[in-house]
Amino acid sequence: MTAPRRYCLLVCDGPSCGVTHDSDRLFELAGKTAAAQPGLRDKVAVRNYTCFGRCDDGPNTFVVELAPGDDPNRDPDFAVLESQRGFYPGMDEAKIVRVLEQHCGKDEVVEDLVDSY
Ligand code: FES
Repeated sequence: MTAPRRYCLLVCDGPSCGVTHDSDRLFELAGKTAAAQPGLRDKVAVRNYTCFGRCDDGPNTFVVELAPGDDPNRDPDFAVLESQRGFYPGMDEAKIVRVLEQHCGKDEVVEDLVDSY
């Protein structure tokens, strides 16, 4: 039996996403949503991230799939971000719940929201 996938949802709190786009409320909502759902609670960590370099598109998030043994509290290498399809720009409350439930919960990229990174 293979181990379930694990994810870290990075919510940008950089100078544009955090200040201009008020990403704090998304971070809070994502944490509460993940904690409230048994299928997500042990599968996804929600963390802040400084800046993805796509400030005009914010608020931005990234779902990073963790390798076995990866510490969700460590920032991923840039190469890891570039290799994964998990960048979700222009998030709002409804979109972030969809990303959590579909990408993190069902292991399916949300095709109409994901963008290349
Ligand atoms: S501040 Fe969020 S991408 Fe730069």
